[in-house]
Formats: sequence, C-alpha cells, structure tokens
Amino acid sequence: MSSTVRFPFGMVDIHGHWLPGVDDGAKSLEMSLRMARIAVDDGITTALATPHHLNGIYKTGAERVREEVAALRSEFARAGIELDLLPGSECHLVPELPRELAEGRAMTVADRGKAVLVELPVHSIPVGASTILEEILGLGLSPIIVHPERNSELARKPDRLAEWVEMGCLAQVTARSCIGKFGDLARDASKEMVTRGMIHFVASDTHRDRRRVPDMSYGRSVIEKWTNSEVGKLLAETYPRDLVLGRELELGALDEALPKRRRGWLRKMFGA
Ligand SMILES: [Fe+2]
Repeated sequence: MSSTVRFPFGMVDIHGHWLPGVDDGAKSLEMSLRMARIAVDDGITTALATPHHLNGIYKTGAERVREEVAALRSEFARAGIELDLLPGSECHLVPELPRELAEGRAMTVADRGKAVLVELPVHSIPVGASTILEEILGLGLSPIIVHPERNSELARKPDRLAEWVEMGCLAQVTARSCIGKFGDLARDASKEMVTRGMIHFVASDTHRDRRRVPDMSYGRSVIEKWTNSEVGKLLAETYPRDLVLGRELELGALDEALPKRRRGWLRKMFGA
C-alpha cells in the first residue's frame, strides 16, 4: 500500500470503523462518505480502517479487509474526497491471536506486518493477557493497546498499562475519552496515562456520522492543555504517520516533550 500514501500528512487517525456493513461501524456507503467528509474537515488526511476481528461477534480477516478497503478507496476517489484510507483491524486479545497473525490471517497496521491494534474486554484484564502480548512481540510485531482508558480495570490500575509499555507495547487513547464523553473514570485515566507518557496515539475510533464521528481535534486540544502542543503533535500526527509508513517511532521525543512532573523537578532540585 505504500505507493498509495498521499502527502503531505495532517492528522492520521489509526482507529476507525469505516467499512460499510462489515462490523458495528458505518451502516452504508453513504454513511462512510459522510464520515470521510467530517474527517477531512477536521484535518485528518489519513485513516486506518480497523474492523473488529475475533471479538466473539465479528471476524474480519486480512483478505476481506484488503478487498473492502480497496472498494471504499475507489468510492472516496469517485466522490472527490481526499482521505487516504489504509487497511488495519482491531483484534481482540484472545489466545488464538498470535497464531492468526503468524499465519497472515489477521490484518496488521497498513498491512505492513509491524504492528497490530489490540482490544481488551470492557471491564477486566483477561487472565494470560501479558503472555499473549509477549507472544505477539515475539513475532516482531508491536501490539497497540487501544483505548486502555475505557477498560475499567486498566483505568483504575494504569500501572498495568505501564508494565506493558515497558515490555514494548504501544497504546492509543480515544479522543472522545479525553473530553469526558465516556465518563469521568475514562477521562481521568486518559489524563494520567497521557501525562505519564504511556500513550503514543490519539485516534477517533469512529463508528458513525453522528456522535461517534471521526474528529480528533477536540481530543488533541485537551491533550495539549494537559501537556503541550508538542505532545499533541506527536500523538496526532508524527507517531501515527510513522506507524503507517512502517518507520520506527522515536519514543525519546515523547519523553523529551512531556512536561516534567513536579516530583522529578523536586528530586533534581534537592537530590531527593
Ligand atoms: Fe474500535
């Protein structure tokens, strides 16, 4: 797909349910087109279509995603919509996922075989989650934990996410969580995870042309209030762009950009 990537990049949205009639996202082609226009108006230039896979309801394997994305790309072109749609998937964290990935049955980010979006259940962390993540890392793939702030166990224990990030996982916060649309717990967890440097991407997780629309800029501006414009740019533009291009993320840049926590400042001042 690399030859199809359009320049220059603006915001890159790595998580969305764009494909009509494939999962619980867009219900029709017309809805996908309306979503695409909203995204372009918001400053999004590139989006990953990430249908659910292995969540117990939907199975959207790699071949199906390739076909559906190619079809929707043609429709965007026909309608004159300048949104670069690339393939992806949102894979549920289940024991068979590493094997699905190893055998090429699950779609990776932009079909590059380097990273994969991984979703947890809403309320809990499944037993054996770390083992499955280790297996995915062992395949040379980076698991990207999607909306950890919306998993109530992770939201209450962000240190669990910190452990996974330490192992080599990446994480994506949903823009609407940052503005409180998924409740106070998800918003507060978003803030803690972002400010502690555990989050590498902000994305829309769009499902519709109303309410769960593909806008990222409100979420990005809240993140910038919590941190600064440099962090907002890394999470909304630089890192997602590098990800879809298959480049290594320069994670040191986030560490540099994050406002130093007061504790760290005091430690430096007093050597405590
Ligand atoms: Fe999603």
